[in-house]
Order: sequence, then C-alpha cells, then structure tokens
Amino acid sequence: MPTTSNLRDALVEELRDCYDAEKQLVKALPKLAAAATSADLEAAFSSHLDETREHVNRLEQVFGILDQPPRGKHCDGIAGIIKEGSSTIEDEDGGPTMDACLIAAGQRAEHYEMAAYGTLIAWAKQLGLDDAVPLLEQTLDEEEAADRKLSSLGEGGINQSAAENTAMNGSSNGSGKRQSARGDEDEAENDSEMDENDNEDESTGSAGARMAMSRAASNSSGRSRTKSSGARGSSSRSSSSQRSARGGGSRKSSSSRQGRGGSKKRR
Ligand SMILES: [Fe+2]
Repeated sequence: MPTTSNLRDALVEELRDCYDAEKQLVKALPKLAAAATSADLEAAFSSHLDETREHVNRLEQVFGILDQPPRGKHCDGIAGIIKEGSSTIEDEDGGPTMDACLIAAGQRAEHYEMAAYGTLIAWAKQLGLDDAVPLLEQTLDEEEAADRKLSSLGEGGINQSAAENTAMNGSSNGSGKRQSARGDEDEAENDSEMDENDNEDESTGSAGARMAMSRAASNSSGRSRTKSSGARGSSSRSSSSQRSARGGGSRKSSSSRQGRGGSKKRR
C-alpha cells in the first residue's frame, strides 16, 4: 500500500495497482483457459478475458476523470496469485482435479479484485467522483458475476467429478500428488525465506501472495469465507462472501463494504 499525503493521491496509487493487476490478468486468463479440460470452464475464462480487457478500458476512463495519465504500478498481490495458479497448472495432470484447482485459482483472483474495486468505489464516492463510481461499480459487478460463475461450475459437477476421480484412482494417487506438490511448496517457501536475504525478485512473489491473502482478509469477512465459495461450494456461502464485498452481510469494518454500504445509506 503506497504512502500518500491525501486520499486522492491514494486513490490514484490504488488505480495504478489495479490497472497493472488487470493487465496481468489479461495475460494469465488465456493460460487458465488453455489448461481447462471442461469446455464450460474454458468458456468462462475466455468470456472473463473479454470483460477484463474492458476493465482495463474503464480504468483508463477513470484515470481520465482524475486528469491522470493511465499508468500501472506492479501489483505484487495479483502476481502472487497468478504464480500460485501457474504452479497448479504445472503440478496437476489435467482432468477434473485440474479444473477444480483452476476454479480455486480463478476465485482467488476474483476476490482480490473485488476487494480492490470495493475500496476504489468507497474512496471515489467519498471524494465526490460521481462519474468514476458507475464505471468502477460496473466492473465490480462483472467480477462478482465471474466469481459466481466459477462457483456454479465447481458446484455443478466439476468438484464432484474430481472427487469421483479421486475415489476411482485411489487416494494414494491423488493425495500423493498433492503431498508432493505440497512438499514442493514447503520447499519453495523455505527457499523463498532464504532468498529474501539475497534475492529481492524471488521474495516478491511470496510476499505478494501473503499480501494478497492479508488484503482479501481485510476487505472481505475473512479468508475462510472467501474459500467457502469454491471449496465448500454452497450457493448461499458464495452469496455471503459476495455480500461481504458489497457490504451487506457482516459487521466487520471493510473498505469493500463501505463501497456498497455507502450508496445504500445515501438512498
Ligand atoms: Fe477485472
């Protein structure tokens, strides 16, 4: 989070972070689509790629409203999430388990973006940027719809197919793979911690992932609820997770909730 002297400057910095995040996702989404074995999941990622390009355009309009040149600032948070998603593609052999893991990766990215846009909307409202708010809200609506779509695909058969695949192949096959991947991650984490002393680039990804998780926790009602939309998979929990980003459900203070809650108070 940048250090700035006033909320308008902070908004511009947040916009730059978000602009870079959207551009990173424009590059990452085709890889997720290509890795998907479910045609519906591939279509969902491809459809959201088109939307994401439009999110970039809308942010450029917001920069214009602020009389600022559109300029990105590297978003470590989304970079960490994308890095995790890439390791999923490398670790899994394909099929329904891969698809379930791709949904998990996609939903992490969506919730990160939902938190970011919730903050942007709240700040834009506070600053009286009435032309910017609808642009940002339109994008937030699309991020939330993409998240719901991923939940529906997981709950609509992919998670079940992955579970059946686990049962058919025996737990040692799947879990061994995951344990191996987990071990690699633990190893990578240790490496990352070691590298923090002598390799700034390597530490950025790990720190970025931690920052993303911290950010998601602070802007929604918590990571467990975020995960519940995909991992637990019930529609009501998906909705509650999205409500927390919009600001309807929880009592916890949240910048995302301020974004939506603020408009309700004014009505
Ligand atoms: Fe987006």
